Amino acid sequence: MKVDVLLGLQWGDEGKGKIVDYLAPKYKVVARFQGGPNAGHTLEFDNIKHVLHQIPSGIFRQDIVNIIGNGVVLDPIIFKKEIEGLKPFNLDLTKNLFISKKTQIILPSHRMLDAALEKAKGKDKIGSTLKGIGPAYQDKIGRHGLRVGDILSPTFKQRYDKLVEEHRRKLSYFDAVEDMSEQEAEFFEGIELLKKYNIVDSEYLINEKINESTTILAEGAQGSLLDVDFGSYPFVTSSTTIASGACTGLGVAPKNIGNVLGIFKAYCTRVGSGPFPTELEDETGELLRKNGNEFGATTGRPRRCGWLDLPALKYAVMINGVTELFMMKADVLNDFEEIKICTHYELENGEISSQLPYDICDTKLTPVYKTFKGWGTSLDSANNFDKLPYELMIYIKFIEDELGVPINLVSTGPNRNQTVIRDKH
Ligand code: GDP
Ligand code: IMO
Ligand code: MG
Repeated sequence: MKVDVLLGLQWGDEGKGKIVDYLAPKYKVVARFQGGPNAGHTLEFDNIKHVLHQIPSGIFRQDIVNIIGNGVVLDPIIFKKEIEGLKPFNLDLTKNLFISKKTQIILPSHRMLDAALEKAKGKDKIGSTLKGIGPAYQDKIGRHGLRVGDILSPTFKQRYDKLVEEHRRKLSYFDAVEDMSEQEAEFFEGIELLKKYNIVDSEYLINEKINESTTILAEGAQGSLLDVDFGSYPFVTSSTTIASGACTGLGVAPKNIGNVLGIFKAYCTRVGSGPFPTELEDETGELLRKNGNEFGATTGRPRRCGWLDLPALKYAVMINGVTELFMMKADVLNDFEEIKICTHYELENGEISSQLPYDICDTKLTPVYKTFKGWGTSLDSANNFDKLPYELMIYIKFIEDELGVPINLVSTGPNRNQTVIRDKH
């Protein structure tokens, strides 16, 4: 069976965790393919609200195999905290959690380097989550990272010390060498804990599952506009967040990718620095933030808010080959009399464009908006597409027509059951 990929089409926090958890019963395997503790995926069900960072969002379903793929960067300290956070749920994670031997490890010194690099950037800082993501991926690409499979080797500590020595040299350049002893102790506790779980050749595991015709969902982190190649570079994360990342991040051949499920908010948010053409720095933006409770699940930072950006969404649909769209947080717009969608950008020379420019960070783009009438009602009673308000259906239809991809799911609240599915028959 082919692997379906679920990923964010904007700047992250689209609601991936909610939907992976919602869709999980349809799948036997859920596999995270990139990112690390910079992600915060929120799940809400049965009066439980839980945020996952590195552990896949299928974890609450005991019969599902959850894989942390080779494309992920894993912090053992945060892994230990996540495992402790899951204890009250009495899940036997030794049965349903599998970690790739090739997953890269985030060291405490990676986090220190992240902080030092951001500080050195001054006003040009990326707004990183400071979880050590950039430095850990740099070491991976630089070919001296440590991987989860290495923790089983008798020389692991020696290799750790060697890498930390190198990090200390870099940190001294920034005058940022710190005492690491406390964090190192926690790190090695995390390493010992990791050994209790299934450390596997996950590319073999996943390909066996493909050959057995098992249903598999690949879970993305961040969003397409944060992709290291196609995002608003340099204000991006350090991994491949788009559909092709599922191939390299799990060892799945392109021919084995099935549906690409693209998830987007009915408006836009961004946390951290970087271009955001439709950002609203006024009371409308404030209202989106308040109604949408737009505060980061990982860092608690207020998210920047703005109207839906169609050129950016079209771009994301194109580079991912999205086959189905899921629209999230429609309920956040319930109180708005008017809702806008940016259909084009006006460039400084007056030219109208529907493409994301290469120099998006330095170009002033003025969004050209189309205005829609709001629906002005709660969506709580809408349990199928036919019951969605007329004005919302107009909004949905416009987006579908522009993108040429159907919106098959509308999310009307954070809870697992606040989800409206289009009947495809
Ligand atoms: P992720 O990183 O893509 O998994 O998304 P986050 O968990 O960081 O952020 C999404 C936030 O929106 C979380 O607080 C969710 O509980 C919440 N959420 C998800 N879907 C909806 C929805 O349809 N309506 C509302 N109001 N909140 C939602
Ligand atoms: P989920 O999976 C939203 C942003 C950071 C920063 C930039 C680089 O929850 O959608 P990094 O820590 O990766 O070096 O930060 O990327 N960022 C996210 N924004 N959701 C995320 O993940 C993010 N992960 C990273 O705010 O702007
Ligand atoms: Mg998030």
